[in-house]
Amino acid sequence: MTTSPTVAKAQTAASKKQEQQAVAPQAAKIPGISRREFLYYAWGGSISLLTAQTAGLLIWFGLPRFGEGEFGGTFLLTTLPLPGSPPLDNPQGKFWLSVTEGGGIVALYKVCTHLGCLFRWVDANHRFECPCHGSKFELNGRFIEGPAPRSLDRFAIEVVTTSGVIASNADGDPVVLDDLSQFREVRVDTGTRIQRSGKV
Ligand code: FES
Repeated sequence: MTTSPTVAKAQTAASKKQEQQAVAPQAAKIPGISRREFLYYAWGGSISLLTAQTAGLLIWFGLPRFGEGEFGGTFLLTTLPLPGSPPLDNPQGKFWLSVTEGGGIVALYKVCTHLGCLFRWVDANHRFECPCHGSKFELNGRFIEGPAPRSLDRFAIEVVTTSGVIASNADGDPVVLDDLSQFREVRVDTGTRIQRSGKV
Protein backbone atom coordinates (compact mmCIF):
# COMPACT_ATOMS: atom_id res chain seq x y z
CA MET A 1 0.00 0.00 0.00
CA THR A 2 1.39 3.39 -1.01
CA THR A 3 1.06 6.51 1.15
CA SER A 4 0.01 9.75 -0.48
CA PRO A 5 2.36 12.79 -0.06
CA THR A 6 -0.28 14.66 1.93
CA VAL A 7 -0.71 11.82 4.41
CA ALA A 8 3.08 11.40 4.73
CA LYS A 9 3.50 15.11 5.46
CA ALA A 10 0.80 14.94 8.13
CA GLN A 11 2.47 11.91 9.72
CA THR A 12 5.86 13.67 9.81
CA ALA A 13 4.33 16.76 11.45
CA ALA A 14 2.56 14.60 13.99
CA SER A 15 5.73 12.72 14.88
CA LYS A 16 7.70 16.02 15.27
CA LYS A 17 5.01 17.31 17.62
CA GLN A 18 5.27 14.12 19.67
CA GLU A 19 9.06 14.53 19.91
CA GLN A 20 8.71 18.15 21.06
CA GLN A 21 6.16 17.14 23.68
CA ALA A 22 8.54 14.42 24.88
CA VAL A 23 11.46 16.88 25.19
CA ALA A 24 9.52 19.77 26.75
CA PRO A 25 8.96 18.13 30.16
CA GLN A 26 12.69 17.35 30.40
CA ALA A 27 13.64 21.01 29.76
CA ALA A 28 11.25 22.11 32.44
CA LYS A 29 13.09 19.84 34.88
CA ILE A 30 16.45 21.73 34.55
CA PRO A 31 16.74 23.64 37.81
CA GLY A 32 17.09 27.46 37.40
CA ILE A 33 19.38 29.68 39.52
CA SER A 34 17.77 30.57 42.80
CA ARG A 35 17.53 34.13 44.12
CA ARG A 36 19.92 33.26 46.90
CA GLU A 37 22.50 31.89 44.43
CA PHE A 38 22.12 34.95 42.21
CA LEU A 39 22.78 37.27 45.16
CA TYR A 40 25.72 35.12 46.20
CA TYR A 41 27.33 35.32 42.76
CA ALA A 42 26.63 39.07 42.44
CA TRP A 43 28.17 39.69 45.85
CA GLY A 44 31.23 37.58 44.98
CA GLY A 45 31.68 39.44 41.68
CA SER A 46 31.46 42.84 43.40
CA ILE A 47 34.05 41.85 46.02
CA SER A 48 36.42 40.55 43.32
CA LEU A 49 36.06 43.77 41.32
CA LEU A 50 36.66 45.93 44.39
CA THR A 51 39.74 43.89 45.34
CA ALA A 52 41.17 44.23 41.82
CA GLN A 53 40.58 47.99 41.82
CA THR A 54 42.22 48.41 45.24
CA ALA A 55 45.24 46.33 44.17
CA GLY A 56 45.55 48.39 40.98
CA LEU A 57 45.49 51.67 42.93
CA LEU A 58 48.09 50.40 45.41
CA ILE A 59 50.41 49.42 42.56
CA TRP A 60 49.82 52.76 40.81
CA PHE A 61 50.67 54.84 43.88
CA GLY A 62 53.47 52.51 44.95
CA LEU A 63 55.41 52.89 41.72
CA PRO A 64 57.78 55.84 41.43
CA ARG A 65 56.17 58.47 39.22
CA PHE A 66 59.42 59.83 37.85
CA GLY A 67 62.46 57.92 36.69
CA GLU A 68 66.04 58.47 37.77
CA GLY A 69 67.61 61.45 36.00
CA GLU A 70 64.20 62.99 35.27
CA PHE A 71 63.06 66.20 37.00
CA GLY A 72 60.76 65.12 39.82
CA GLY A 73 62.84 61.99 40.35
CA THR A 74 66.28 61.29 41.80
CA PHE A 75 69.63 62.42 40.39
CA LEU A 76 72.79 60.58 41.31
CA LEU A 77 76.09 62.48 41.20
CA THR A 78 79.52 61.15 41.98
CA THR A 79 81.53 64.37 41.72
CA LEU A 80 81.46 67.48 43.86
CA PRO A 81 82.81 70.99 43.38
CA LEU A 82 85.67 71.87 45.69
CA PRO A 83 84.61 73.47 48.99
CA GLY A 84 83.87 77.17 48.51
CA SER A 85 84.31 77.02 44.73
CA PRO A 86 81.56 77.82 42.15
CA PRO A 87 78.59 75.45 42.28
CA LEU A 88 77.84 72.75 39.71
CA ASP A 89 74.96 73.48 37.37
CA ASN A 90 72.52 70.62 36.79
CA PRO A 91 70.08 71.81 34.06
CA GLN A 92 68.08 68.55 33.87
CA GLY A 93 67.50 68.50 37.61
CA LYS A 94 67.00 72.29 37.79
CA PHE A 95 69.40 72.66 40.72
CA TRP A 96 72.81 73.97 41.66
CA LEU A 97 75.00 71.68 43.73
CA SER A 98 77.07 73.70 46.21
CA VAL A 99 79.77 72.72 48.65
CA THR A 100 80.38 75.35 51.30
CA GLU A 101 83.75 76.36 52.72
CA GLY A 102 83.05 74.05 55.65
CA GLY A 103 82.31 71.05 53.40
CA GLY A 104 78.50 71.27 53.56
CA ILE A 105 76.75 69.78 50.53
CA VAL A 106 73.45 71.29 49.39
CA ALA A 107 71.27 71.18 46.24
CA LEU A 108 69.51 74.49 45.51
CA TYR A 109 66.37 74.75 43.36
CA LYS A 110 67.08 77.10 40.47
CA VAL A 111 63.94 79.20 40.83
CA CYS A 112 64.08 82.50 42.73
CA THR A 113 61.89 82.62 45.82
CA HIS A 114 60.65 86.11 44.90
CA LEU A 115 58.67 85.78 41.66
CA GLY A 116 60.13 82.68 40.08
CA CYS A 117 62.92 83.94 37.79
CA LEU A 118 65.98 81.79 37.21
CA PHE A 119 68.84 83.19 39.26
CA ARG A 120 72.45 82.60 38.22
CA TRP A 121 75.86 82.22 39.77
CA VAL A 122 77.97 85.38 39.43
CA ASP A 123 81.59 84.35 39.86
CA ALA A 124 82.93 87.89 40.20
CA ASN A 125 80.73 88.49 43.27
CA HIS A 126 80.87 84.87 44.45
CA ARG A 127 77.11 84.66 44.99
CA PHE A 128 73.83 83.90 43.26
CA GLU A 129 72.04 86.89 41.76
CA CYS A 130 68.57 87.12 40.29
CA PRO A 131 68.40 89.18 37.06
CA CYS A 132 64.75 90.19 37.58
CA HIS A 133 64.70 92.27 40.78
CA GLY A 134 68.19 91.82 42.16
CA SER A 135 67.80 89.34 45.02
CA LYS A 136 71.13 87.87 46.09
CA PHE A 137 72.01 84.65 47.86
CA GLU A 138 75.10 83.02 49.29
CA LEU A 139 76.72 79.87 47.93
CA ASN A 140 74.73 77.83 50.48
CA GLY A 141 71.44 79.45 49.38
CA ARG A 142 71.07 81.85 52.27
CA PHE A 143 69.36 85.18 51.52
CA ILE A 144 71.65 88.25 51.38
CA GLU A 145 69.48 91.10 50.10
CA GLY A 146 66.65 92.02 47.74
CA PRO A 147 62.87 91.52 47.60
CA ALA A 148 62.93 87.71 47.93
CA PRO A 149 60.97 86.71 51.05
CA ARG A 150 63.16 83.76 52.00
CA SER A 151 66.38 81.92 51.28
CA LEU A 152 66.58 79.60 48.30
CA ASP A 153 64.60 76.37 48.30
CA ARG A 154 66.59 73.14 48.49
CA PHE A 155 66.06 69.58 47.47
CA ALA A 156 66.34 66.68 49.87
CA ILE A 157 69.68 64.91 49.44
CA GLU A 158 71.34 61.75 50.65
CA VAL A 159 75.11 61.70 50.82
CA VAL A 160 76.71 58.26 50.74
CA THR A 161 80.25 57.72 52.00
CA THR A 162 82.76 55.12 50.83
CA SER A 163 81.96 53.09 53.95
CA GLY A 164 78.26 53.08 53.08
CA VAL A 165 77.09 55.60 55.68
CA ILE A 166 74.17 57.71 54.51
CA ALA A 167 73.55 61.27 55.73
CA SER A 168 70.46 63.25 54.74
CA ASN A 169 69.01 66.72 55.25
CA ALA A 170 65.29 66.63 55.96
CA ASP A 171 65.53 70.22 57.29
CA GLY A 172 67.34 71.52 54.19
CA ASP A 173 70.61 72.28 55.97
CA PRO A 174 73.80 71.39 54.07
CA VAL A 175 75.03 67.87 54.80
CA VAL A 176 78.51 68.15 56.26
CA LEU A 177 81.00 65.33 55.87
CA ASP A 178 83.90 65.28 58.34
CA ASP A 179 86.17 64.10 55.59
CA LEU A 180 85.21 64.87 51.99
CA SER A 181 87.64 62.22 50.74
CA GLN A 182 85.07 59.75 52.11
CA PHE A 183 82.47 61.02 49.65
CA ARG A 184 81.11 58.42 47.25
CA GLU A 185 77.88 59.86 45.82
CA VAL A 186 75.01 62.25 46.43
CA ARG A 187 71.40 61.47 45.56
CA VAL A 188 69.30 64.56 44.92
CA ASP A 189 65.55 64.02 45.22
CA THR A 190 64.00 66.71 43.01
CA GLY A 191 60.55 65.50 44.04
CA THR A 192 61.10 66.76 47.60
CA ARG A 193 61.57 70.52 47.77
CA ILE A 194 62.36 72.04 51.14
CA GLN A 195 61.35 75.66 51.81
CA ARG A 196 63.32 77.54 54.42
CA SER A 197 61.25 79.70 56.69
CA GLY A 198 62.58 83.24 56.46
CA LYS A 199 66.04 84.35 55.45
CA VAL A 200 68.13 81.59 57.00
S1 FES B 1 62.17 87.08 40.77
FE1 FES B 1 64.14 87.07 41.64
S2 FES B 1 64.26 88.96 42.64
FE2 FES B 1 62.32 88.97 41.79
